[in-house]
Amino acid sequence: MRLKENDPGAAQYGNFINYYQFHPTEARIKSLPTDVWNVNAGEDMICLDVGSNSGELTQALYEFILSNLHTVDDENKVDSLQNSQCKGSSCYFLGLELDPLLTERAKNSNRYVSSIHYHCLNFMTDDKLTVLKTYLKQHGKQKFDVIFCFSVTMWIHLNYGDEGLIKFLKDLCAWTKVLVIEPQPWKCYRAAARRLWRAKGKTFPELDALTIRHNVETEIEDILEKKCNFSKVLETTSEDWKRKIIFFRRHDS
Ligand SMILES: C[S@@+](CC[C@H](N)C(=O)[O-])C[C@H]1O[C@@H](n2cnc3c(N)ncnc32)[C@H](O)[C@@H]1O
Repeated sequence: MRLKENDPGAAQYGNFINYYQFHPTEARIKSLPTDVWNVNAGEDMICLDVGSNSGELTQALYEFILSNLHTVDDENKVDSLQNSQCKGSSCYFLGLELDPLLTERAKNSNRYVSSIHYHCLNFMTDDKLTVLKTYLKQHGKQKFDVIFCFSVTMWIHLNYGDEGLIKFLKDLCAWTKVLVIEPQPWKCYRAAARRLWRAKGKTFPELDALTIRHNVETEIEDILEKKCNFSKVLETTSEDWKRKIIFFRRHDS
Protein backbone atom coordinates (compact mmCIF):
# COMPACT_ATOMS: atom_id res chain seq x y z
CA MET A 1 0.00 0.00 0.00
CA ARG A 2 1.26 3.51 -0.79
CA LEU A 3 0.80 6.09 1.89
CA LYS A 4 -0.03 9.69 1.17
CA GLU A 5 2.46 12.14 2.60
CA ASN A 6 0.18 13.24 5.42
CA ASP A 7 -1.25 9.79 6.20
CA PRO A 8 0.36 7.72 8.95
CA GLY A 9 -1.45 4.62 7.62
CA ALA A 10 -3.18 1.97 9.72
CA ALA A 11 -1.57 -0.15 12.39
CA GLN A 12 -3.65 -2.31 14.71
CA TYR A 13 -1.48 -1.67 17.76
CA GLY A 14 -0.23 1.82 16.91
CA ASN A 15 3.00 0.28 15.67
CA PHE A 16 3.43 2.84 12.89
CA ILE A 17 6.75 2.59 11.11
CA ASN A 18 6.76 6.32 10.35
CA TYR A 19 5.33 7.63 13.62
CA TYR A 20 7.95 10.31 14.26
CA GLN A 21 7.50 11.76 10.79
CA PHE A 22 4.03 12.84 11.99
CA HIS A 23 4.69 13.39 15.68
CA PRO A 24 8.09 15.03 16.13
CA THR A 25 9.40 14.54 19.66
CA GLU A 26 10.15 18.25 20.24
CA ALA A 27 6.51 19.26 20.77
CA ARG A 28 6.15 16.87 23.72
CA ILE A 29 9.57 17.52 25.19
CA LYS A 30 8.95 21.28 25.06
CA SER A 31 5.76 20.91 27.07
CA LEU A 32 7.40 18.97 29.94
CA PRO A 33 8.24 20.77 33.22
CA THR A 34 11.95 21.11 33.98
CA ASP A 35 11.83 21.24 37.78
CA VAL A 36 10.34 17.90 38.82
CA TRP A 37 13.11 15.41 38.02
CA ASN A 38 14.51 14.81 41.50
CA VAL A 39 16.32 11.78 42.94
CA ASN A 40 17.96 11.21 46.28
CA ALA A 41 21.63 12.22 46.21
CA GLY A 42 23.78 9.34 45.05
CA GLU A 43 20.85 7.45 43.49
CA ASP A 44 20.02 7.04 39.80
CA MET A 45 16.69 7.87 38.17
CA ILE A 46 15.34 4.67 36.68
CA CYS A 47 12.67 5.10 34.00
CA LEU A 48 10.48 2.86 31.90
CA ASP A 49 9.01 3.90 28.56
CA VAL A 50 6.07 1.68 27.59
CA GLY A 51 5.39 1.51 23.84
CA SER A 52 8.77 2.89 22.83
CA ASN A 53 8.19 2.44 19.06
CA SER A 54 11.46 3.19 17.20
CA GLY A 55 12.97 4.83 20.28
CA GLU A 56 13.09 8.48 19.24
CA LEU A 57 10.97 9.77 22.10
CA THR A 58 12.78 7.52 24.58
CA GLN A 59 16.12 9.04 23.57
CA ALA A 60 14.70 12.57 23.69
CA LEU A 61 13.25 11.92 27.17
CA TYR A 62 16.58 10.56 28.34
CA GLU A 63 18.44 13.66 27.12
CA PHE A 64 15.82 15.97 28.63
CA ILE A 65 15.83 14.30 32.04
CA LEU A 66 19.59 14.06 32.21
CA SER A 67 19.90 17.78 31.64
CA ASN A 68 17.19 18.57 34.21
CA LEU A 69 18.14 16.01 36.83
CA HIS A 70 18.43 17.26 40.40
CA THR A 71 19.50 15.46 43.53
CA VAL A 72 18.02 16.03 46.96
CA ASP A 73 20.16 15.32 50.03
CA ASP A 74 19.18 14.39 53.59
CA GLU A 75 18.79 18.04 54.48
CA ASN A 76 16.51 18.60 51.47
CA LYS A 77 19.21 20.58 49.65
CA VAL A 78 18.71 20.42 45.90
CA ASP A 79 21.67 20.18 43.53
CA SER A 80 21.71 20.71 39.78
CA LEU A 81 23.10 18.72 36.87
CA GLN A 82 26.85 19.10 37.12
CA ASN A 83 26.89 18.60 40.84
CA SER A 84 24.52 15.66 40.73
CA GLN A 85 26.70 13.98 38.15
CA CYS A 86 29.66 14.55 40.44
CA LYS A 87 27.74 12.81 43.19
CA GLY A 88 27.23 9.82 40.91
CA SER A 89 23.57 10.26 39.99
CA SER A 90 22.46 9.53 36.47
CA CYS A 91 19.45 8.37 34.48
CA TYR A 92 18.63 5.00 32.90
CA PHE A 93 15.81 3.97 30.60
CA LEU A 94 14.20 0.70 29.67
CA GLY A 95 12.01 0.92 26.52
CA LEU A 96 9.41 -1.81 25.98
CA GLU A 97 7.82 -2.29 22.58
CA LEU A 98 5.46 -4.87 21.15
CA ASP A 99 6.74 -4.73 17.58
CA PRO A 100 10.01 -6.61 16.90
CA LEU A 101 11.00 -4.53 13.84
CA LEU A 102 10.48 -1.24 15.67
CA THR A 103 12.49 -2.59 18.61
CA GLU A 104 15.29 -3.52 16.23
CA ARG A 105 15.24 -0.01 14.77
CA ALA A 106 15.33 1.48 18.26
CA LYS A 107 18.36 -0.66 19.13
CA ASN A 108 20.16 0.24 15.91
CA SER A 109 19.66 3.97 16.34
CA ASN A 110 20.41 4.03 20.09
CA ARG A 111 22.95 6.79 20.80
CA TYR A 112 23.12 5.87 24.51
CA VAL A 113 23.69 2.13 24.65
CA SER A 114 25.02 2.20 28.19
CA SER A 115 21.96 4.10 29.50
CA ILE A 116 19.03 3.05 27.32
CA HIS A 117 18.02 -0.56 26.85
CA TYR A 118 15.20 -1.71 24.54
CA HIS A 119 13.27 -4.92 24.85
CA CYS A 120 10.52 -6.38 22.67
CA LEU A 121 7.46 -7.59 24.58
CA ASN A 122 3.72 -7.22 24.93
CA PHE A 123 3.10 -5.37 28.19
CA MET A 124 -0.28 -7.13 28.46
CA THR A 125 1.42 -10.49 29.01
CA ASP A 126 3.23 -11.89 32.05
CA ASP A 127 6.48 -11.89 30.02
CA LYS A 128 7.09 -8.46 31.49
CA LEU A 129 7.47 -9.74 35.06
CA THR A 130 10.95 -11.23 34.69
CA VAL A 131 12.17 -8.43 32.42
CA LEU A 132 11.05 -5.69 34.82
CA LYS A 133 12.25 -7.47 37.95
CA THR A 134 15.67 -8.18 36.44
CA TYR A 135 16.08 -4.61 35.21
CA LEU A 136 15.11 -3.09 38.56
CA LYS A 137 17.36 -5.50 40.44
CA GLN A 138 20.33 -4.52 38.25
CA HIS A 139 19.70 -0.93 39.34
CA GLY A 140 19.06 -1.75 42.98
CA LYS A 141 15.46 -0.51 42.97
CA GLN A 142 12.08 -2.02 43.91
CA LYS A 143 10.11 0.23 41.56
CA PHE A 144 10.74 2.59 38.67
CA ASP A 145 11.09 6.23 39.61
CA VAL A 146 9.01 7.17 36.57
CA ILE A 147 7.02 5.25 33.97
CA PHE A 148 6.22 7.11 30.75
CA CYS A 149 3.21 6.00 28.76
CA PHE A 150 2.72 8.24 25.76
CA SER A 151 -0.05 7.55 23.23
CA VAL A 152 -0.47 3.89 24.13
CA THR A 153 -3.72 3.71 26.16
CA MET A 154 -5.99 3.85 23.09
CA TRP A 155 -4.25 0.89 21.47
CA ILE A 156 -4.58 -1.19 24.63
CA HIS A 157 -8.21 -0.13 24.97
CA LEU A 158 -9.14 -0.89 21.34
CA ASN A 159 -7.47 -4.30 21.42
CA TYR A 160 -8.16 -5.47 24.99
CA GLY A 161 -11.35 -3.59 25.93
CA ASP A 162 -12.32 -1.77 29.14
CA GLU A 163 -11.05 -4.56 31.37
CA GLY A 164 -7.76 -4.63 29.48
CA LEU A 165 -7.31 -0.87 29.90
CA ILE A 166 -8.01 -1.06 33.65
CA LYS A 167 -5.57 -3.96 34.04
CA PHE A 168 -2.95 -2.07 32.02
CA LEU A 169 -3.26 1.02 34.25
CA LYS A 170 -3.12 -1.08 37.44
CA ASP A 171 -0.06 -2.92 36.15
CA LEU A 172 1.74 0.33 35.28
CA CYS A 173 1.00 1.68 38.76
CA ALA A 174 2.23 -1.46 40.47
CA TRP A 175 5.71 -0.87 39.05
CA THR A 176 6.27 2.84 39.64
CA LYS A 177 6.31 5.81 42.01
CA VAL A 178 5.37 8.33 39.32
CA LEU A 179 3.36 7.79 36.14
CA VAL A 180 3.52 10.25 33.25
CA ILE A 181 0.69 9.42 30.91
CA GLU A 182 -0.57 10.88 27.65
CA PRO A 183 -3.96 9.30 26.89
CA GLN A 184 -5.49 9.67 23.45
CA PRO A 185 -8.88 11.45 23.44
CA TRP A 186 -11.99 9.79 21.97
CA LYS A 187 -11.69 11.54 18.59
CA CYS A 188 -8.46 9.58 18.00
CA TYR A 189 -10.37 6.32 18.46
CA ARG A 190 -12.74 7.23 15.66
CA ALA A 191 -9.87 8.27 13.40
CA ALA A 192 -7.97 5.02 14.13
CA ALA A 193 -11.08 2.93 13.41
CA ARG A 194 -11.66 4.78 10.13
CA ARG A 195 -8.05 4.27 9.04
CA LEU A 196 -8.08 0.56 9.88
CA TRP A 197 -11.34 0.06 8.02
CA ARG A 198 -10.08 1.94 4.94
CA ALA A 199 -6.74 0.14 4.84
CA LYS A 200 -7.69 -3.41 5.83
CA GLY A 201 -11.48 -3.66 5.88
CA LYS A 202 -11.21 -4.59 9.59
CA THR A 203 -12.60 -3.20 12.83
CA PHE A 204 -10.98 -3.19 16.26
CA PRO A 205 -12.17 -6.22 18.22
CA GLU A 206 -13.37 -4.26 21.25
CA LEU A 207 -14.54 -0.92 19.82
CA ASP A 208 -18.31 -1.50 19.92
CA ALA A 209 -18.27 -3.03 23.39
CA LEU A 210 -16.38 -0.18 25.09
CA THR A 211 -18.30 1.46 27.92
CA ILE A 212 -15.41 3.80 28.71
CA ARG A 213 -15.81 6.20 25.79
CA HIS A 214 -16.26 9.91 24.98
CA ASN A 215 -14.52 11.17 28.17
CA VAL A 216 -11.68 8.68 28.05
CA GLU A 217 -9.09 11.03 29.58
CA THR A 218 -11.28 11.80 32.62
CA GLU A 219 -12.14 8.13 33.05
CA ILE A 220 -8.46 7.20 32.98
CA GLU A 221 -7.80 9.82 35.67
CA ASP A 222 -10.62 8.32 37.75
CA ILE A 223 -9.23 4.80 37.43
CA LEU A 224 -5.77 5.96 38.47
CA GLU A 225 -7.11 7.90 41.45
CA LYS A 226 -9.80 5.50 42.65
CA LYS A 227 -8.51 2.06 41.70
CA CYS A 228 -4.73 2.55 41.77
CA ASN A 229 -4.13 4.89 44.71
CA PHE A 230 -2.38 7.51 42.60
CA SER A 231 -3.00 11.27 42.72
CA LYS A 232 -2.80 13.71 39.85
CA VAL A 233 -0.03 16.20 40.56
CA LEU A 234 0.42 18.06 37.29
CA GLU A 235 -1.04 18.45 33.82
CA THR A 236 0.62 20.11 30.86
CA THR A 237 -1.09 22.23 28.26
CA SER A 238 0.62 23.06 25.03
CA GLU A 239 -0.23 24.88 21.84
CA ASP A 240 2.09 22.69 19.75
CA TRP A 241 1.01 19.36 21.17
CA LYS A 242 -2.73 18.99 21.53
CA ARG A 243 -2.76 16.02 23.93
CA LYS A 244 -2.60 16.37 27.70
CA ILE A 245 0.43 14.97 29.50
CA ILE A 246 -0.63 14.12 33.06
CA PHE A 247 1.63 13.36 36.02
CA PHE A 248 0.41 11.01 38.77
CA ARG A 249 2.15 10.13 42.01
CA ARG A 250 1.68 7.09 44.25
CA HIS A 251 0.02 8.10 47.52
CA ASP A 252 2.70 6.51 49.69
CA SER A 253 5.79 7.85 47.88
C1 LIG B 1 1.39 5.44 18.77
S1 LIG B 1 2.86 4.68 19.24
C2 LIG B 1 3.52 5.82 20.43
C3 LIG B 1 5.02 5.69 20.54
C4 LIG B 1 5.66 6.53 21.65
N1 LIG B 1 5.21 6.10 22.96
C5 LIG B 1 5.38 7.98 21.46
O1 LIG B 1 4.38 8.49 21.98
O2 LIG B 1 6.16 8.65 20.76
C6 LIG B 1 2.29 3.38 20.30
C7 LIG B 1 3.34 2.31 20.50
O3 LIG B 1 2.90 1.41 21.53
C8 LIG B 1 3.20 0.08 21.14
N2 LIG B 1 2.30 -0.84 21.85
C9 LIG B 1 0.96 -0.98 21.68
N3 LIG B 1 0.50 -1.93 22.48
C10 LIG B 1 1.55 -2.42 23.20
C11 LIG B 1 1.69 -3.44 24.18
N4 LIG B 1 0.65 -4.16 24.57
N5 LIG B 1 2.92 -3.67 24.71
C12 LIG B 1 4.01 -2.94 24.28
N6 LIG B 1 3.93 -1.97 23.34
C13 LIG B 1 2.71 -1.71 22.80
C14 LIG B 1 2.98 0.09 19.64
O4 LIG B 1 3.58 -0.99 18.99
C15 LIG B 1 3.53 1.45 19.25
O5 LIG B 1 4.88 1.41 18.89
